[in-house]
Amino acid sequence: MIKIGIAGCRGLSTLQGLHDIEDVQITAMCDLSEEHLKNAAEKIGGDVKTFRVFEDMLESDIDAVIIATPMQCHVPQAIAAMEAGKHVMCEVTAGVSMDELFWLCETVEKYNKIYMYAENYIYAPKVQLVKEMVAAGLFGRPYYAEGMYLHDIHDLLVYPDGKTSWRSYWQCGKRGNFYPTHSIGPVMQWFPGDRITEISCFSPGVHNEYGVKQDSGTTMMCRTEQGNLLEIRTDCLSPRPHCMDNYLLQGTEGIFQSAQYGKGWSNGDFDRVSLRSHLTEKGAMDWEDLYNYKQYLPDRYKNATESQRRAGHDGGDYFIVEDFINAVRSGQQPELDVYTACEWTAAGLLSTLSVTNNGKTLAVPHFRPNMPLEEKKVIL
Ligand SMILES: NC(=O)c1ccc[n+]([C@@H]2O[C@H](COP(=O)([O-])OP(=O)(O)OC[C@H]3O[C@@H](n4cnc5c(N)ncnc54)[C@H](O)[C@@H]3O)[C@@H](O)[C@H]2O)c1
Repeated sequence: MIKIGIAGCRGLSTLQGLHDIEDVQITAMCDLSEEHLKNAAEKIGGDVKTFRVFEDMLESDIDAVIIATPMQCHVPQAIAAMEAGKHVMCEVTAGVSMDELFWLCETVEKYNKIYMYAENYIYAPKVQLVKEMVAAGLFGRPYYAEGMYLHDIHDLLVYPDGKTSWRSYWQCGKRGNFYPTHSIGPVMQWFPGDRITEISCFSPGVHNEYGVKQDSGTTMMCRTEQGNLLEIRTDCLSPRPHCMDNYLLQGTEGIFQSAQYGKGWSNGDFDRVSLRSHLTEKGAMDWEDLYNYKQYLPDRYKNATESQRRAGHDGGDYFIVEDFINAVRSGQQPELDVYTACEWTAAGLLSTLSVTNNGKTLAVPHFRPNMPLEEKKVIL
């Protein structure tokens, strides 16, 4: 039996997945708020122990923790958990400073516990489908991608009781791209074996009326080791409808473009592809529905049970938990390991320096096991 503790209510998004996996049980829940704890314990059901203090939960006999507290808590809590002998699955982003990222890698190496980055956007069926189509060569050689996270969160800057929320400081209190991995993670699925080596970030300045420093939209260009280019855009304060999972992939043989207008677009925008191998009768390129290619979906998505689908995102919210539990059982680090988490998070952290220095290009450290000390720095 694997016993799980959850910290922060957002961790309840894993509830259905954890319930559906055999020999796994949520035995502990932690939240600073008594009210949130009470509601969470009711949702979890059974004999769940509740804690206000994270370190107290670590003294219980859990094997693993799911960290879903605010971003600034992630690294201190992940380190404390691994020191206490627990495996970790951690929400996005991995950390809030470059030093934190280096400590995180060192801690995973020291205690040899499983660390999985809970970048759930990767598990969206369309992302997985495009990944398999890339592997099958349908796009030829991919060389350019876009990922956009457009989500007006101004209403989350202050809690309902009027107190300032953590997002005012750790997200919208920062310049640059504070929340990059929902965009980077999915597009990096389409460049297997590649990594981001340099970033440069630009913004049109700060035009919000909420009294926070966040840029009114940032565009971060990322270059990769294999010479590919990513354009990552985040805008969390401009007035516009949400569109949080907007992607594009261009290859030598075709293009994928996700629905750009998000929910509520009445004209029916859709996820689409245009491939040289599927020209129109007149020999031209035109768009067709991505799901004309659904035979390329990974088998576990095609064969997802009703219950797995119910976990959310057509089974995606189940598979992320399944991958974590499989990693804990096998002792093998998951694909979304600490180095991947740190590379994608570092791109965003470095963008703060870049955007405030006229778009200066900055190198992203090569996060890998036993990284030498002289590489654990920001190169200006
Ligand atoms: N993957 C996704 O799609 C997604 C979506 C939303 C949020 N998130 C991430 O989830 C995390 C939480 O975001 P949220 O929107 O739920 O925030 P929130 O402010 O709504 O909730 C945070 C919860 O954590 C509790 N908390 C705060 N500090 C704590 C501590 N030290 N110990 C224990 N509990 C503590 C709070 O009481 C609150 O219940 C963030 O890291 C955010 O980036 C991810």
